[in-house]
Amino acid sequence: MVIIKEEQQQSLIDIMNSQETAPPREEHRAARAKHEDNRMELDRLKEEALACKRCSLRQGCSQVVFGVGNPGARLMLVGEGPGGDEDRQGVPFVGRAGQLLNRILEAAGIERDEVYIANIVKCRPPGNRLPVQPEIDACLPYLQKQIALIDPEIIICLGSLATKTLIDKNASITRTRGSWHTIDGRRYMATFHPAALLRDPGKKRYVWEDFKEVIKIYHKPENGGSVHE
Ligand code: URA
Ligand code: URA
Repeated sequence: MVIIKEEQQQSLIDIMNSQETAPPREEHRAARAKHEDNRMELDRLKEEALACKRCSLRQGCSQVVFGVGNPGARLMLVGEGPGGDEDRQGVPFVGRAGQLLNRILEAAGIERDEVYIANIVKCRPPGNRLPVQPEIDACLPYLQKQIALIDPEIIICLGSLATKTLIDKNASITRTRGSWHTIDGRRYMATFHPAALLRDPGKKRYVWEDFKEVIKIYHKPENGGSVHE
């Protein structure tokens, strides 16, 4: 049983607004080593994605942003697609939205490198437009293989596109967020995209509600996690 104190309700918003980073935690080191085999499989899949010509997005971006993190992650976060910073660095969620995501993870007691972070599409759409359905369909097999290999217990869909693509094509983010959706034995939680929080900070409290549900499961002692006090 995870007990969240009143003051912790505020902590997400405080930490979201701070620039501090948390010290590394030891709890998940073993889990991280557990699926070392996956790293090779994921590397093979990455090679395939780097050479991908299944849609035209690759012609308009500077590099493929495959995904980053722990191949044995119990928690995976899925965004929309790379933005400008991600396209330059080749890593998902490194721009402003990514920095906010880092603070959300920190507030939830989750280290960024113990989870896995990917996007629905691996190539930046021109001018950061939403990817169109044929681009999503072309790219989705990579994400499906990432999910199958990593086999996370929990997937957090960040924003509307990931929610519609992974949970329900007719889903509305405001109605779908906040409760668990079980698909093929895996738990999915939808929440607002960090970029949406930058536009509308009033949404932060809902994201914290959603992450509280996630950490109830994620930090269960039998899962090797720490109980938040
Ligand atoms: N927004 C996303 O959806 N993904 C990223 O990687 C960065 C910003
Ligand atoms: N609101 C969000 O939080 N994310 C989206 O992607 C769209 C609307």
